[in-house]
Amino acid sequence: MERLKEARREIEALRERILYHDYRYYVLDSPEIADAEYDQLMRQLRKLEAAYPELVTPDSPTQRVGGVPLAGFGQVEHYIPLLSLDNATTQAELWDFDQRVRRRWAGEPLTYVVEPKIDGLAVSLTYEAGVFTRGATRGDGERGEDITQNLRTIASVPLRLRGERLPSVLEVRGEAYMDRRDFDELNRWRGEHGEPLFANPRNAAAGSLRQLDPKVTASRHLNVFFYALGYHEGLELETHWQVLQYFKSIGLRVSPLIQCCPDMKAVWEYCEKMQAQREALTYDIDGVVVKVDNLGAQAMLGATGKSPRWAIAFKYPAEEATTVVEDIIVQVGRTGALTPLAILQPVEVAGSTVSRATLHNADILKAKDVRVGDTVIIRKAGDVIPEIVKPVESKRTGREQIFALPDHCPVCNAEVQRLPGEAVTRCVGTACPAQLMEGLVHFASRGAMEIEGMGPALIDQLVEAGLVKDPADIYYLDPEKLRQLPRMGAKSVENLMTAIEASQARPLARVVFALGIRLVGEAAARELAAHFGSMERLIAASREELQTVPLVGDKIAESIITFMEEPQNQRVIRRLAEAGVTMSEAGKTDTVEPGPLLGKTVVLTGTLEKYSRQEAAELVRSLGGKVTASVSRSTDYVIAGANPGSKRRRAEELAIPILGETDLDRWLKE
Ligand code: IVH
Repeated sequence: MERLKEARREIEALRERILYHDYRYYVLDSPEIADAEYDQLMRQLRKLEAAYPELVTPDSPTQRVGGVPLAGFGQVEHYIPLLSLDNATTQAELWDFDQRVRRRWAGEPLTYVVEPKIDGLAVSLTYEAGVFTRGATRGDGERGEDITQNLRTIASVPLRLRGERLPSVLEVRGEAYMDRRDFDELNRWRGEHGEPLFANPRNAAAGSLRQLDPKVTASRHLNVFFYALGYHEGLELETHWQVLQYFKSIGLRVSPLIQCCPDMKAVWEYCEKMQAQREALTYDIDGVVVKVDNLGAQAMLGATGKSPRWAIAFKYPAEEATTVVEDIIVQVGRTGALTPLAILQPVEVAGSTVSRATLHNADILKAKDVRVGDTVIIRKAGDVIPEIVKPVESKRTGREQIFALPDHCPVCNAEVQRLPGEAVTRCVGTACPAQLMEGLVHFASRGAMEIEGMGPALIDQLVEAGLVKDPADIYYLDPEKLRQLPRMGAKSVENLMTAIEASQARPLARVVFALGIRLVGEAAARELAAHFGSMERLIAASREELQTVPLVGDKIAESIITFMEEPQNQRVIRRLAEAGVTMSEAGKTDTVEPGPLLGKTVVLTGTLEKYSRQEAAELVRSLGGKVTASVSRSTDYVIAGANPGSKRRRAEELAIPILGETDLDRWLKE
C-alpha cells in the first residue's frame, strides 16, 4: 500500500515535470533541458507505469498514441458553431471593415488584434477540468468529425492544461498545420513508395488528421496554434489579447507573431510586414486575421450568416496555381549537375509571373511523373524558385510525353554519370563549358597544382576571353594575349607565367588530384600515384586493380574508369604531359636532375620523329632541364620538329636558339 502511494507520487511528479518542459518547449519556445534529458524523463515514467498499470491515466504524456484504428469517425455537434471569416484583398476593403465596425460600436474606443492566418485546418478541442476530452474538425460549422484520438498524437496539444482552478469546461479553437519541410519530406517518401502526393501542406495536414489509424497521424509531425475561445464555463476575461495570454499560461501554443494595433494604419503595416516575412516562415500562411480586441464589442457586433462582424481575413495572393508544362529542358550547372527544368505556360503566382520550375533531379522527376503536356499544380512557397507539386492526372489526354534525363550532356555531349547512392546526375567531361569554371578553380587551387594568383576572378576572365577551354590550356597561354586582358600589366603577366611554370613540377599525386575526378580526394590521389607510379599506368588500370589500392572502393574505381574513358579527358591529360606537367613519380621535377640542361628552359614544338612529345619532355627533364609550353624571354631553347607553327616564329622574334631532335641525342650522349 505504501509502495503504491509512493509510486503514485513519483508518477505525478514526473508528469508535472514533463508538462512543464512541454510548456517551455512548445509555448515559450525556450526549452530548459536537452532532448535526451526529456526522453529520459519519459522513459522513467513509462517504466513506472509499466510496473503500476493501475496508475496509468488517459492524460498521461505516455498515452498519446493509444487505441485501435477506427472503422469510421463519429460525429460531434459543436457547442457553439465554428464560423468562417469574410475576406478582404485590398486596403480599401480593410478600411470599409473598420468603418462598419466603428459605426456599429458608436464611436467607443476600439483596438484590434492581428494574427497570421495559418493555412491549415480548423480544429476544436475541449478540456474538462483541464483534461483533454474531445477534439473535432470544423465540418460544416455545426457538426464535425470526432478526431480526438488523432489530436492526442500531436505533441504541441497538451493532454492536460497547466495551473490551478482551471475552468470546468473550456473549448478552444486553433489551426492544425504541417511545416513545409515535413510536407516536402512526406511527399518525397510517398513518391518513392508509389503513393499519391499531397498538393500542399494544408492537404497533407487534413489527410493526416483524417487517418483512421492514430499511429499514422502520430508519424506525421503536425502542429497546432490556438487562436480563439469557444464554449467555456467559469472563465472571466475582457479582451481577445487576454484570451491569448491566458492560453499561453495554461500551456496552449499561440503564434508568437500576434500583435495589438491601435488603428487601421498599424493593421496595414502589419499586413505588409507579414507578407514580406511570409516566405521565411516554416509554415504556410494565406493572410492576416484582424479581430476586434474587446470581447464585449465582439458580442455586441455579433455575426451575419456564417461570419462574425468583428473579424476579417486579409488574404494574400495564392501561392499556388495551375498551368501547363510546355517542355522539359536540362540545365548543366557549374559542378556538372544536370537539372531538369519545366518550361511552363506563364502563370501568376503569389504576385509574380512564373514560366519555369525546377524538377530537381532524376528521382524527383520520376516520383512526380511530370510529363510534357501535363497540367500541373505549381507552388511558390518558402523558396524563391517555384516548384511543381504534381500533375493533375484527371486532365491527361494520353498525348503527354514522359521525360527522362539524357545519357549525354546536352552542353558538351560527354557521358553523364550517376554514382550509386547519389541523387545528382553529372556530366563527366572536364571540358564541359558548363562546369569548366569549377574544374579550373579546383585545378589551380592550393592542394592541387597550386598556381599562385590564379583564383576564381582571373579564371573567370580567362574563360570569358576564350583563352582557356580546359585545364591544359593554362600551360599554352600566350603572354601577349594575357597582356590584352583588363588589369593585366607586364608584371602581372610575368608573375603568372612564372607561377604556371612552377606548377608543372608538382608531383604526380597532385596532378591526379587536380584532374578533379569525382570522389578522388587528396589522400586517394596520393595512394593512386604511389601504386601506379605514372599517369599512363593509371589510365590503363582495370577496375580490379584500382580496387586493390588503399582508399579506393568500387565507387571511386567506377568514377576513375568513367573519367579515363572520356576522350575529352584523355586529350587534356595528353596535352598536360606535352606541356611538361609531371606524369610519373620518377619524372618528378621537384628534384632537378644534374645534367647538361641544368637550369635551362626548353619549349617543344612540332612533330618529332623518334620521340613522342611526352618522351621528349621526360628526356629534357632527365637532362636537368625544364619544359614549358609557351615561348617567352626566359626560354633558353626551342626544339622544333615538323610543322612547328607559331612557337617557332615567336622564338625567331625573340632570337631564341631553335634546335632539332639531333641536339637532344647529342646531349643524351654527353
Ligand atoms: S479566427 C470566427 N484566427 O481561417 C473566427 N482563424 O477563413 C474564427 N484561421 O476556419 C477564425 N488562422 O481555420 C482565426 N489566427 C486565426 C486563424 C484562423 C487560420 C482559419 C480558420 C478559419 C479560417 C477562416
